Amino acid sequence: MAFKVVLMLGVVFLAQQSLATGFDFTTSYARKALTLVEDYLPGHYNDFNPHPTSHGERAFCQTGEESCFSYDPDSGIGPQCWFKIDYPRNKCCDERNSFQSPIDIPVNQRTRHARNRLRYRRNHIKGELENNGIYPKFEPEDDNIRLYGVPGTHRSYIMDNVHFHFGPRGDERQTEHTIGGHNFDAEAHIVHHRSDFANVSEASVHKGGIAVVAILFSTEHGSKSPAFENIFRELGEVEDFEDEENVCFLENILIFIKRIFNLEEDGRCRSALIPTFPAPPSQQKVHRKCLLHTKDSRCGEHKDEIYLNPNELLSECAVYYNYDGSLTSPTCSEAVTWLVAAEPTRISKETLKALAAVESRFTGDKISDKGNLRPLQSLAGREVKKLRFPKRKHRYH
Ligand SMILES: *[C@@H]1O[C@H](CO)[C@@H](O)[C@H](O)[C@H]1NC(C)=O
Ligand SMILES: [Zn+2]
Repeated sequence: MAFKVVLMLGVVFLAQQSLATGFDFTTSYARKALTLVEDYLPGHYNDFNPHPTSHGERAFCQTGEESCFSYDPDSGIGPQCWFKIDYPRNKCCDERNSFQSPIDIPVNQRTRHARNRLRYRRNHIKGELENNGIYPKFEPEDDNIRLYGVPGTHRSYIMDNVHFHFGPRGDERQTEHTIGGHNFDAEAHIVHHRSDFANVSEASVHKGGIAVVAILFSTEHGSKSPAFENIFRELGEVEDFEDEENVCFLENILIFIKRIFNLEEDGRCRSALIPTFPAPPSQQKVHRKCLLHTKDSRCGEHKDEIYLNPNELLSECAVYYNYDGSLTSPTCSEAVTWLVAAEPTRISKETLKALAAVESRFTGDKISDKGNLRPLQSLAGREVKKLRFPKRKHRYH
């Protein structure tokens, strides 16, 4: 990409200046480096129309190409800046929108009884764990694992992935959703798209197109889920982040520059620095999927397969908080039917340590350095229902 070349030349230029002159770098040089990058990028990002949510219309932002964003509130691409990130989907993550997630779930409502059981028809699935630098993510091999009983529709939902959120080490907040102000120790999202859509991207522009089951984990309450344990067992295998096409390539160079020059950001959102700048569709990168991984997850030989019963991923007590919200990372599409388990599932301290050791896509960082929790969003008058789903006598059937 010409863009990367220009950036590299800028860095090399500065390094040469330094060597040639023996000049003690001042921030003016560093600023110049940043300006060089900024100037090269198209300056029209901020001109896009905001979605008309202020007029009561729902904003539906289609997910698609992955973009570079961070969970660092001090960064120009942190959560406070996400609304600027995705070209041409500006404003999708605008916190003034009224269907955003995660939320602090109010707990004073009565429990209603859902008519149908929430369950998968399949009891045995196979998949793999990967680290995309945002979170560890389990993906089933089969693309027809259907969840039945999601409220508000008679349609089933197809499982896309199971991924994990957790906070910065030592912080009190470790889950995206909180329940009555209460924090737990980690949170899993089981992401599905409605079966009448081809994929999450297509489903993301329709209300209820996506269903996410959130499972909160606690080291002190609930019982362990064998299915989650099977996933957790593989965490060590994906500790390293190895992605040849890191969308944060540019950001990593900036981090490098900032570290050399000891620069701090001024809090401005750097919408323009996101490397998903308007690439014509024909030039969009093709996602290369590694078919064979070595044990340490490099592309080459085989990678451990994970077998699990998807019904074991669901909450044992079958009580969920249900509300309409959004994806919790860009594009923040407001298409999500949320089902947040009311009671936690048990997690061991060792597993929390294994999660904390997983690398992020920012060079040299762990995901747990900043965590991967979006700030809580306003409930904005939404109703949160508490639903008790019918249970079978035995959990795992
Ligand atoms: C999603 O499905 C649509 C329709 O089949 C297709 O055009 C699109 O490429 C798919 N997107 C992804 C990300 O797979
Ligand atoms: Zn998530």
